[in-house]
Amino acid sequence: MKTPVPQQALVVEGLEVRYDTVPVVHGIRVVVQTGEAVAVIGSNGAGKTSMLRGIMRLVTAPVQRLELFGQSVRALRTHLINHAGIGYVPEGRELFPGLTVHEELLIGGRRLPRSERGVQLEAMFAMFPRLRERHRQVTRTLSGGEQQMLAIARTLMARPRLLLLDEPSLGLAPVIQDLVYGTLETLRHQGLSMLLVEQNAFRALKLCSRAYVLELGRITREGSSDELLGDPAIQTAYLGR
Ligand SMILES: Nc1ncnc2c1ncn2[C@@H]1O[C@H](COP(=O)(O)OP(=O)(O)OP(=O)(O)O)[C@@H](O)[C@H]1O
Ligand SMILES: [Mg+2]
Repeated sequence: MKTPVPQQALVVEGLEVRYDTVPVVHGIRVVVQTGEAVAVIGSNGAGKTSMLRGIMRLVTAPVQRLELFGQSVRALRTHLINHAGIGYVPEGRELFPGLTVHEELLIGGRRLPRSERGVQLEAMFAMFPRLRERHRQVTRTLSGGEQQMLAIARTLMARPRLLLLDEPSLGLAPVIQDLVYGTLETLRHQGLSMLLVEQNAFRALKLCSRAYVLELGRITREGSSDELLGDPAIQTAYLGR
């Protein structure tokens, strides 16, 4: 008998992030259903990156519940959270500047069985033909868009079940944002669960079915993307209308 897939990909409850003694995330609650793409929108300094770093246990962050597909990962360190199935694409991409595209991807896939690495690499090149063309190029000479694609592909090499993305559109020209978001759309259709953090609220709400609004470290709104897109207060604050 097949074990049923748990309903919730991610449950975060009571997450606090502080730097020294200064709290920047105040006991927030965020849930991603399995197969759902959820956005967290918020302006500069709202605490979006801190929230993701707290979930990934990259900062000391007390939390009441932190569950991945029904299992508590609250006590795990970052690398074990990765093992448990979360892939994290950090703000600013964090590539190794001196490595080639090919080497960077192999780092992402280092925990896959050797026999599966080639298959996964091929899947990434099929998804990002640009990376195939440039597989011998060192990452620091890639364009911003290519770097973002590589950062996503490197994370996907580990075959995560839940993807956390921090501002994938940052610093990219609109046509390149289209490309990156086109890929995210494909992943969403494939049923990958996602938590996407963005200042670019319009893009995030168009991709995701549901969203949270984070303001000064607190979730102040939560709703379907359609509801938020149609809300005059959200339009004024986040959609530039
Ligand atoms: N390492 C750190 N030490 C001290 N304070 C920090 C640190 N990192 C972030 N902060 C502060 O925490 C608050 C939230 O920052 P964070 O980077 O999480 O916001 P953000 O929503 O991701 O912003 P942006 O959209 O600019 O990326 C800010 O006031 C920031 O100055
Ligand atoms: Mg940030």
